[in-house]
Amino acid sequence: MKNYDNVTIFNHPLINHKIAILRNEKTSMKEFRELIEEITTLMTFECLRTGVPTTECQVKTPLEVCNQSMVKDNAIAIVPILRAGLGMVNGVHVLFPSARVGHIGLCRNEETLEPYEYYCKLPEGIEDKLVLVIDPMLATGGSACDAIALLKKRGCTNIKFMAVIGAPEGVTRVAEEHPDVEIYVSTLDRCLNENGYILPGLGDAGDRLFGTK
Ligand code: PRP
Ligand code: URA
Repeated sequence: MKNYDNVTIFNHPLINHKIAILRNEKTSMKEFRELIEEITTLMTFECLRTGVPTTECQVKTPLEVCNQSMVKDNAIAIVPILRAGLGMVNGVHVLFPSARVGHIGLCRNEETLEPYEYYCKLPEGIEDKLVLVIDPMLATGGSACDAIALLKKRGCTNIKFMAVIGAPEGVTRVAEEHPDVEIYVSTLDRCLNENGYILPGLGDAGDRLFGTK
C-alpha cells in the first residue's frame, strides 16, 4: 500500500499483543469486549495528540499559581458506526467521560458490500467539535467513507477516524476520498476475501462483541 500523510498505522508492541488475543477464535465475548475497549483507549491517547481544542487556565498548586492548558468543555464528540463501533465507546469515555456520543447506523449489504444507513442521531453543535469516528473494522472503506461524508454534510470540519484493524483496500479508499481526515489504524492486515472480510482479521466484530451470528 502507498504511504499517505493522513494515515497512521500504530504497530505498537502493547497493542499488537492485545490484537493477538483479539484475533484468536477461542477468545470469549467478555474478553473480546474488554480488549476492544483497552485498545481504543491506547489509540485515543495518541490520536488526540493533535487537533484537540484546548483552553488556557490558571491553577493554584500548593506552591504557586501556574498557567495550564486543558481540553475545552464539550469539545469532543464520539461517533461510533453501529453496531460494532459501540464496542469502542467506553474506551474513549474513560479518557473523556463528558464527550457527547452521536450514532450512525450503517450495515453492509452482504452481496454488494455497499453500506446502507438505518439510523443517525448526532449531538447538537457537532459541527464545532472534534469528531472521533470509531469502528473496529475498516474493510472496503464503504462504511467509513459514508459516515464521514454524512458528518461533512452536517458541517463537521475536524474529523478523525479510528479503526482497530484495517485492510489496505479500505485504508486506501478512505485516505483518498477524505484526505482532510486523519485515519488511525492499529494494524494493517493483508487483504479482503471474496466476501469482504479482512484476512487474517478477527471475523465479524459485531458478532463477537454482542454474541450474534
Ligand atoms: C462491519 C464493521 C464496519 C463495516 C466495515 O459492520 O463494523 O462497520 O462492516 O466494512 P466496510 O469497510 O466494507 O464498510 P457491518 O456492516 O457488518 O454491521 P454490524 O456492525 O452491524 O455487524
Ligand atoms: N466487518 C467485520 O466485522 N469484519 C470484517 O472482516 C469485515 C467487515
